[in-house]
Amino acid sequence: MRTPLIAANWKMNKTIAETAAFFDAFLPVVRDVTDVDIIIAPPFTSLATAAEKTRSSSVKIAAQNAYFEEKGAFTGEISAAMLIDAGCEAVILGHSERRHILKETDEVINKKIKAALAHGLEVLFCIGELLAEREAGKTNDVLRTQITAGLAGIPSEGIVVAYEPVWAIGTGKTATPEIAQEAHDFIRSLLAEKYGDTAQTIRILYGGSVTPENVKGLMACPDIDGALVGGASLKPDSFAQLVRFNR
Ligand code: PGA
Repeated sequence: MRTPLIAANWKMNKTIAETAAFFDAFLPVVRDVTDVDIIIAPPFTSLATAAEKTRSSSVKIAAQNAYFEEKGAFTGEISAAMLIDAGCEAVILGHSERRHILKETDEVINKKIKAALAHGLEVLFCIGELLAEREAGKTNDVLRTQITAGLAGIPSEGIVVAYEPVWAIGTGKTATPEIAQEAHDFIRSLLAEKYGDTAQTIRILYGGSVTPENVKGLMACPDIDGALVGGASLKPDSFAQLVRFNR
């Protein structure tokens, strides 16, 4: 059985005070949720506050990125050990905005995943195709390359995969449950080629314009084990509704 996981990616949003206010409103309304795992990824500057606020709850805090080196002359970068120090238990790696805006390659993402796992962080590993790639019939090729290169030399423990078609992120154009399920089924088959039966235990989240309105249909799909949510995770009531999708 794969426990559903609903994760929030706040991207470059919220000050420290706004982060504290979010948790003050959010935690009381999800306190009774024990059958869904919750991860929230605030910006770096809010991590310590978020970790402090959630210390006596089951909510885990994630960072949105980490560098692969331990320490040294890497201006502007943050190491996995620093994230642990700030109270993080997980990290998002390979997000499409980092791949496409910040030009991260599969090779760099692979190194980051290795460093994060070595420090005991759970990794939310994001993959997904561009609209042009889908329209050219290349979705499966893209997913295969991203999985093969991104997870090269990496065991399955501590990995959560997030399928986020780039055309669905922040656009309001969610993949239909059918389109998402087809991709998730293919991703699971790729994971099975690599990890055998263990692939059945790896959670695959869907991300891209997930809202309280469409989450139920997505979560009803057999290979969709959760959601990675951007826009709809910023308000405590809407993210609480997402976490309570099965109520
Ligand atoms: P969105 O973002 O929910 O705003 O589409 C999802 C993501 O980028 O993780």
